[in-house]
Amino acid sequence: MEIINNITQDVIKKAANSLINGHLVAFPTETVYGLGADATNEKAVSRIYSVKGRPTNHPLIVHISSISQLNNWAIDIPEYAIKLAREFWPGPMTLLLKRSELAMGFITGEQDSIGLRVPDQSVALALLDELEKLGGLGIAAPSANRFGAVSPTTAEAVQEELGSFLQTEDLILDDGQCAVGVESSIIDCTKEYPVVLRPGAITIEMIEMTSGVNLQLNPEKSDIRASGLLESHYSPKAQVVIDVAAEPGDGFIALANIPTPAGVVRLASPENIEEYARIFYKALREGDQKGLKKITVLQPDGGGLAIAIRDRSGKAAAGKGTLR
Ligand code: TXA
Ligand code: MG
Repeated sequence: MEIINNITQDVIKKAANSLINGHLVAFPTETVYGLGADATNEKAVSRIYSVKGRPTNHPLIVHISSISQLNNWAIDIPEYAIKLAREFWPGPMTLLLKRSELAMGFITGEQDSIGLRVPDQSVALALLDELEKLGGLGIAAPSANRFGAVSPTTAEAVQEELGSFLQTEDLILDDGQCAVGVESSIIDCTKEYPVVLRPGAITIEMIEMTSGVNLQLNPEKSDIRASGLLESHYSPKAQVVIDVAAEPGDGFIALANIPTPAGVVRLASPENIEEYARIFYKALREGDQKGLKKITVLQPDGGGLAIAIRDRSGKAAAGKGTLR
């Protein structure tokens, strides 16, 4: 596996060729780093599952270069989904749509829907363009972490997560820190109304404004399977506890205006919600690197992106016998 950090057009060509030849390419998006494979190559896609250690019935998001590629992968697209795509692509939003013939079971986890997204990141878009020039139709990419672990927001974090599972010819493209820092909003567009399955930087308020529909954040009522929807996910090795008093020796993540309690290890002091999202996963990783046993997270209040941060911190805390 090679990590490349000076991403020239030649590097993009090399990476697109690697994908077409069935290798894996980890690449930056504006949300988190993805582990990419040619979405039409079953063998390459199956390697994503083994490298991540992910159950094969968990579907993958296919990344496409623009809205014009939608019809390759999806059928019966509702009007409101087109509106959302026009408004927010490229951007941190995944739409679940009824799948086309092209979207086969090895991508969709044998479900009838396909997840699609146009990422808003120059390296990702250049890679998609180059792949299409070679006849490719999209890049299947989950977050580039081991199953259940924290998503990587830097290339170093990808290497730490997956380095020992990748093969010689696989690549990691390093374009620095991801701008958003939490995974895309996932919107189920297979029903009459959109349903937000995973909150993200395209917020419920933004979706309501565009679609003209009142939304609920409603994973329970959906029959769709999404691994990010498992109660416990996005977990570091340290135990995560939320909105309780930090104890000496804990890692501590809270907005900058909250003072550091005595004896704790401050892992992050974001000034605002956007910065909180951007550095949250990195801060959890730092807690692990420092060998901390427990990380106390004080969640941000309010709507918008704060909802996504509370969703991820709640999932990081779940399943380890912690307070919620
Ligand atoms: O921001 C993101 O979405 C990142 C970057 C790399 O694009 N990707 C990402 O992928 O977070 P992943 O696989 O780690 O999380 C996507 C979630 C998973 O929980 C998956 O099960 C769900 O989306 N998903 C994908 N396609 C689906 C489908 N057809 N039906 C239901 N759930 C789906
Ligand atoms: Mg993931």
